[in-house]
Amino acid sequence: MRLQGKVALITGAGSNIGRAMARLFAREGAAVVVGDTDEVGGGETVRLIETAGGRACWVAGDVSTTQGLRQSIDGAVETYGRLDIFLSNANSGASGTIAQFDRAGAEKLLMVNLMALMEGAHYCLPHMQQAGGGAIVATSSVQALTGVPGHPAYGAAKAGILGAVRSMAVELWPYKVRVNAVCPGGTAGKTWTVIDELGEEYLPEFEARFGGDMRHLPLPVPTDPMAIAQAALFLASDEASYITGQHLSVDAGLGMLRYDVFHGPEPLDTRQAKSQRQSELQAEFEAWLAAKKEERAREP
Ligand SMILES: NC(=O)c1ccc[n+]([C@@H]2O[C@H](COP(=O)([O-])OP(=O)(O)OC[C@H]3O[C@@H](n4cnc5c(N)ncnc54)[C@H](O)[C@@H]3O)[C@@H](O)[C@H]2O)c1
Repeated sequence: MRLQGKVALITGAGSNIGRAMARLFAREGAAVVVGDTDEVGGGETVRLIETAGGRACWVAGDVSTTQGLRQSIDGAVETYGRLDIFLSNANSGASGTIAQFDRAGAEKLLMVNLMALMEGAHYCLPHMQQAGGGAIVATSSVQALTGVPGHPAYGAAKAGILGAVRSMAVELWPYKVRVNAVCPGGTAGKTWTVIDELGEEYLPEFEARFGGDMRHLPLPVPTDPMAIAQAALFLASDEASYITGQHLSVDAGLGMLRYDVFHGPEPLDTRQAKSQRQSELQAEFEAWLAAKKEERAREP
C-alpha cells in the first residue's frame, strides 16, 4: 500500500474525479477526509470507501471561505490526528463569455479553485511540518494549457493554479512539502462501474476487451476518473519524492491539439464515424456488463 498511515484531505470528493481520488487513496491505505459542500455526494463517497474496508469521513467545509477551509483542515486533524496530503480538487462557478461576463460566477471559480489552493496550503503547512513533510496536489485542467471560448475565468483559475503550484513548490521544498498538479481532459469513465458492479477481478478482462479501443478512439476520448486519480496518487506518494512544481496531463492527448483542430471544421464523415464508434462501444460495454453480471449471478 502506497499511502499506509497517511491522512489525505480531498476537496470536491463528493463526485466524479474527487470521488475516484478518495476511493483510490483509501484503497492505498490513507485515511481520507472527504471535503465537500454536498452532504449526499460526500456521504456516498464515504459509504463506498467504508464498504470496501477503508477509512473515511465527510466534512462540510465550503472551500471558497477561510472558515470552510479551516473547518476541513481542522476536521482532518481532529479526526485522524495528522495531515499529510491535501488535494485541492473542488470546482464551482462559471463566468460565461467575455461578452456576457458574470462577475459573481468568475469570482466563485477563482475562490474555489485558486484561493482555496493557496489558503488551504497556508493552513495545511503547520500540520504537514508536524508530520515531517507532505504533498499538495491541485486539480488544474487541460484548459490551463489551451484556450476554450466561453471559459475565460475557468482558464484563468486553472492556469493560475499552475503558477501557484510552481511558486509554492520552491517555497515549500525546504519544509519537505511537495506541490504538483494534474491536468485532466474531459472526464467520464467505466472502471469504477466494473469494480462496483462486477468486482475488481473483472478489471483485466474489461481492460483487454475495451481498454485499448476506448483509449485509442480518435480524439476526443473521455478520460476515466480513475486515470486522473492514479496520476494524483503517484504525485502524492513517496514514489514522486523528488517531483515538485510540475503538472501532469491526463487527457488522452487532448492538450496536444489546437482548439480549432479539435472543435473546428472537421469532415462530417470523420465526426460521424467517431460518434458512431463511441455509441457502439457504449452499447458493447453495457451488453458485456449485463452478460458478466448474469454469469456471476449463476456462480455457486
Ligand atoms: N470533469 C472534467 O471533465 C474535468 C476536466 C478538467 C478538469 N476538471 C477539474 O477536475 C476537478 C473535479 O472535476 P469533476 O468533474 O469531478 O467536478 P464535479 O463538478 O463533478 O465535482 C465537484 C465537486 O466539488 C464540490 N464543491 C463545489 N464547490 C465546493 C466548495 N465551495 N467547497 C467544497 N466543495 C465544493 C461539489 O459539491 C462537487 O462534489 C475540478 O477541479 C474540475 O475543474 C474536470
